[in-house]
Amino acid sequence: LSAQKEGYRFFMEKEIYEQSSVITDTLLGRLSDDAVIFDELGKDFFEAINEIKLCACGTSYHSALTASYLFERYAKIKTSVEVASEFRYRSPIMSKETLFVVISQSGETADTLETLKMAKKAGLKTLVICNVDNSSMVRIADKTILTRAGIEKGVASTKAFATQVTVFWMLALHVAQSKKTLTKDELTQHIHYLRAIPTSVHIEDAMHERIKRLSKRYLHGHGFFFIGRDVFFPLALEGALKLKEISYLHAEGYPSGEMKHGPIALADPELFTIALLPQHMLYEKSKSNVEELSARDSTICAISPLEFDKADDFIQTKKHEHYMLEFFEMMVVLQLLSLEISIRLGNDVDMPRNLAKSVTVE
Ligand code: G6P
Repeated sequence: LSAQKEGYRFFMEKEIYEQSSVITDTLLGRLSDDAVIFDELGKDFFEAINEIKLCACGTSYHSALTASYLFERYAKIKTSVEVASEFRYRSPIMSKETLFVVISQSGETADTLETLKMAKKAGLKTLVICNVDNSSMVRIADKTILTRAGIEKGVASTKAFATQVTVFWMLALHVAQSKKTLTKDELTQHIHYLRAIPTSVHIEDAMHERIKRLSKRYLHGHGFFFIGRDVFFPLALEGALKLKEISYLHAEGYPSGEMKHGPIALADPELFTIALLPQHMLYEKSKSNVEELSARDSTICAISPLEFDKADDFIQTKKHEHYMLEFFEMMVVLQLLSLEISIRLGNDVDMPRNLAKSVTVE
């Protein structure tokens, strides 16, 4: 088993480091200079579609939430997201012009599978974004986009999430291209950014060392808030989920601008705030949200490419040209932070208590 880990301490760590190469696979053959190509969707897949409904569980749900920002922003198509276990029992209204998309690493999650069956029965077009070919969902859905992350062993999902978000960014552009909601120049620009994702998730030793050292401070306390805005809000949710899964510490993801409507009452030095402060997405707004928390003595760990002196700890990310590239680098930072906290606490990172890699019963 240790040979399979190739010198990494845990499979999760190995999979975090693999992200650059698996994302390269995800992009492979799907980009030209000015177009995003999904041969697997055939022609005119999005014709007559005026709405997208995304459904998933766990980490896959967080990539779906991220996708909803991208679909509305770039493809100008109405998009909603639902947790599968809720959707299946809520008598949803399903119109024939809605594309129903399920997202699943395994393709076997019982609740997600059930929603796919419901959508098919209602006569909707269906699509699955999946990492496992020939899985139950792949067999049922009209169309499949494979994420190509390779086998993921760690129960806490990392590279599967990274490739899902990559697919969604591409898919938003693919729809934008067919609906002509972006200009050719804008598309070309995005494709240039897409090609930079593998570099953005590359981990430098100094960064990993910094996170390792800093993780010491975050082993005890009242709990964690991970905060961000726009797509950095679903990323905050995912950061909090990672920490819960493998460290068993209480963590919540929250939209930065919503903290003042309740959670800020918890602020004290024992409350840890992990703040995402990207340069290219609502920087000033997010910054003032964090300053409010700092003024109330919350212990802050800021993650940003821009110097921020109101934080107790500061993790400086690289400057990127686009907020989605910042997203990918911050994703890695959050994964490593959870990993290092969990290792310090002596937990089994790959097999966290009470969790299963794939939940095939309701
Ligand atoms: C389980 C796993 C999670 C995963 C979720 C959805 O709860 O522990 O890591 O995100 O299932 O799995 P899926 O295979 O459908 O993406």
